[in-house]
Amino acid sequence: MKNISDEVLFSKAEKAREASYCPYSGYAVGAALLCADGTVYTGANIENASFPLTVCAERTAFFKAVSEGKRDFTAIAVSGGEKDKKYSACSPCGSCRQVMREFCGDDFRIVLFDGEKIKAFTLGELLPFGFSL
Ligand code: THU
Repeated sequence: MKNISDEVLFSKAEKAREASYCPYSGYAVGAALLCADGTVYTGANIENASFPLTVCAERTAFFKAVSEGKRDFTAIAVSGGEKDKKYSACSPCGSCRQVMREFCGDDFRIVLFDGEKIKAFTLGELLPFGFSL
């Protein structure tokens, strides 16, 4: 199944949020990364007592996929909010945008809740001048 709707991809991100390890911030994030071949890799944020070692949900999903040989990606959905509460507005941090840029072009889609609705942005919109090969 190569084409799944933004809503279905977002629901996979919301499910992945349940595995978040976030004892320090109490902010749980899940991500669902859609590969060009239709497979989906999920991720959650993983915090650490040394907080800068924390890895965001988006990068967890990317690193899982890339470490299994995937290189072509279509979209990522991100769901974040206070742990054990409904998701709220959440968008990828600058580091995650740069990791996306390493593997994705301007048309890569980023699906998130903007505070009102589930909406898709493009990487070109969120990181217009990123470096990549
Ligand atoms: N976080 C993510 O995993 N993704 C985002 O898009 C925003 C921030 C995580 C990092 C940290 O564990 C917590 O949310 C609070 O910043």
